[in-house]
Amino acid sequence: MSVPEYTDGKVVIPAELDLAGLKDKSVLITGGGSGLGLAYANAFAKAGAFVTIVDFNKDAGQAAEKALAPKAVFVPCDVRKWEDQVAAFEAAVIKSPRKSLDIVIANAGTIGRDDLYTFDDPGNGPPAKPELRTVDVNLYGTLYTAKLALHYFRRQPLSPEHDRCLIIKGSIAAYADQPGSPQYNVSKWGARGLFRNLRRTVHRENIRVNFVAPWYVRTPILSEKIIEYLEGKGVHFATVDDCARAMLNIASDTTIHGRAFGIVPRVEAPQGYMDLEHDDYQEGDFMKGWQETVLATAQSIVDLA
Ligand SMILES: NC(=O)c1ccc[n+]([C@@H]2O[C@H](COP(=O)([O-])OP(=O)(O)OC[C@H]3O[C@@H](n4cnc5c(N)ncnc54)[C@H](O)[C@@H]3O)[C@@H](O)[C@H]2O)c1
Repeated sequence: MSVPEYTDGKVVIPAELDLAGLKDKSVLITGGGSGLGLAYANAFAKAGAFVTIVDFNKDAGQAAEKALAPKAVFVPCDVRKWEDQVAAFEAAVIKSPRKSLDIVIANAGTIGRDDLYTFDDPGNGPPAKPELRTVDVNLYGTLYTAKLALHYFRRQPLSPEHDRCLIIKGSIAAYADQPGSPQYNVSKWGARGLFRNLRRTVHRENIRVNFVAPWYVRTPILSEKIIEYLEGKGVHFATVDDCARAMLNIASDTTIHGRAFGIVPRVEAPQGYMDLEHDDYQEGDFMKGWQETVLATAQSIVDLA
């Protein structure tokens, strides 16, 4: 298997997936204890892969491990802590059947009250230091996961038995402005920036990187109140199953590199997900020329610095 240099080219979503290649692959999923991460863990285990579930929710992680035994192991981990993530990656290699790590899904994420924008000091003093938890989990956590994924992929021999596939979890908030949630917007745009950066270089080491950006999905990250509100506004939801299928699609088709999949309501796409086609510049867009100049010069600038 040889990962080609990234070039623009839409992925056509197949009607059927061939999942045979996932058997005994070692998959690490951050935030794998609940919601979408848990659905990915179920889907990969069902396809015969070995899954390392990484989560800071111990009860949820242990329950998932028990339900998927012997195809899964749970490692408690706060993705904001480097040492926790190192321990999780070590466990994934040691406990997997082939002592390998083939697929990493940087999925852990959170959203909540965002102090960044609030005006909370009516006096003349400076504001209180804002809590930046959402950026810490969604962006710094993802940066640690990416660094470790590249490291552990590079350590193992190149062979058809192994894949080297990093999937970075975004959101439609990586493309759309989301007023009121600056940190969530920043973290998901940042994750998208990481994906666009890595796709230009990692193929040199036979590593693939792709991005998955769901629209609203009914999972615990959205409270019942929020779900009801969105339903009242006539918003259609994407589904957990379609998210899981999109992950299996990317992981099982080793030709997919550098693409972003949107997970969308079925009214938008018959399979519930599609190649988003929003990460390349079209002919006539001045950014296309700028992008080409940056690509041609960026490495030399790094070497000269
Ligand atoms: N559900 C949606 O509508 C939606 C839409 C777009 C993107 N997403 C993204 O999908 C991902 C999964 O979200 P979900 O919808 O399954 O929500 P969820 O709340 O069900 O799952 C998130 C998981 O991440 C874990 N987690 C949170 N902080 C952590 C930390 N510091 N360390 C380790 N684990 C941590 C939680 O324990 C939980 O298991 C997130 O990145 C989220 O931003 C979700």
